[in-house]
Amino acid sequence: MDLDSLEQEVTSALSHASSLDKLEEVFRAYLGRKGKITFHLRELSHLSPNERVKQGKALNNLRDKIKELYEEQKLKLQKQEGEEGEWTDVTVPGKRLPTGHMHPLSRIQMQAQEIFHGMGFAVAHGPEIETEWYNFDALNMPVDHPARDMQDTFWLKGELDKQKPENKKSGRLLLRTHTSPVQVRYMEKNTPPFRIIAPGRAFRHEATDARHDANMHQLEGLMVGKDVSVTNMKAVLEEFFRLFFGEGVTARLRPSYFPFVEPGFEVDMSCVICKGRGYVLSESKHCSTCGQAGWIEMMGAGMVHQNVFTAAGYKQGDWQGFAFGMGLDRLAMMKYQIHDIRLLYSGDLSLLDQF
Ligand code: DAH
Repeated sequence: MDLDSLEQEVTSALSHASSLDKLEEVFRAYLGRKGKITFHLRELSHLSPNERVKQGKALNNLRDKIKELYEEQKLKLQKQEGEEGEWTDVTVPGKRLPTGHMHPLSRIQMQAQEIFHGMGFAVAHGPEIETEWYNFDALNMPVDHPARDMQDTFWLKGELDKQKPENKKSGRLLLRTHTSPVQVRYMEKNTPPFRIIAPGRAFRHEATDARHDANMHQLEGLMVGKDVSVTNMKAVLEEFFRLFFGEGVTARLRPSYFPFVEPGFEVDMSCVICKGRGYVLSESKHCSTCGQAGWIEMMGAGMVHQNVFTAAGYKQGDWQGFAFGMGLDRLAMMKYQIHDIRLLYSGDLSLLDQF
C-alpha cells in the first residue's frame, strides 16, 4: 500500500472539490463505509502484529489529516456558497405578521369603564360562581319570590359548608344570572358614600336566539350616599349615553319592576340611528333599529331597595342610592350594528377581523 500517493490523491481531490456536494462525495470515497481508507483500516487485522502497529499508526494519521482538510475546505465552500446564493435585498419590505387585537366586547367594556371612571366610578368584581343568597335572597328575592323565574338559572351541584359562619346564609351554588350580586358583596365590605361599576359575565339557562345567549356580559352600577337621587341617576346615565354614542342622545325613564329597587325603571335611550324620530330621513324609511319607536331599551335601574341595604349589613334608612344594570352585548350590537348576539361569542374571524 502506497500511503504517500494515496495521501496526494486525497489532498488534491479535497482541495479541488468545487461544491459542498462534491466535497461530501470525495470524503465518502475515502472515509465513508466503503471508502478506500476505511477498507485499508479494516484490512489491518490480516497483518502481522508488527506491521499492524506500523500501518495502523500511519493510517490513523492520514485519516486525521483528511478530516482536518475536509473541515477546512468545507468552511471555505460554505462561505463561498453563502455569499453567492443567499443574497439579501435589504430594500424588500418586511413580512407583516398577523397580530391579534381586542375582541369587540372587551373594547366596549373598556370604553364604558373609561367613561364611568371619568365620573368617579371605581371598578368592582365578584365571582361568576355565586351562591343563591347573593344572587337572589340578598337582592330581595326570597325562595318563593316569583321574580326568580324571570332568570332561568344554571344550578351547580354541591353547596358551601354551612357549618362555617361565613357560609351561613349561602345556600346552593349557581352561575350568577346577573352582575347585581356584586352590589351586595361590595356593600358588605365598604361604607358609603361610593360609586362603583361591576362589569362581568352572567349566565342564563335559556334558549338562544338573535338577542339572547346563555352567556352574556353585563355592566352593573351602584352609587350610594346620603342624598343620591333619581335625578343623579338620570344625569349619570344620560352622560354615559352621550359620551358613548355621541352628542344629542337623551334618556327617559319608564316605571318598571325589579325586586332589588324601588322605584324601578326601564331606561330608554333616544335612537342613535333615527335620532328619536322613528324615521330615517337620509334613507326615507322607517327606522328598523328602534322599530319606529324613537327609543331603545338599554337597561334596568332604580333606587336601591332598603331590604338590599339591610341584607348587606347597613341600617335601614341610613343610606340611599341608585343601581343600574345593562347588557354590554347590547351596547356592542348597537354601536357596531351587529344583528345577532351569538356572533359575538362564535369566535368567527370574519366578524372579529372587522374590528
Ligand atoms: N339585574 C337585572 C337583570 O339582569 C338588571 C338590573 C335591573 C340591574 C335593575 C339593576 C337594576 O341594578 O337596578 O335583568
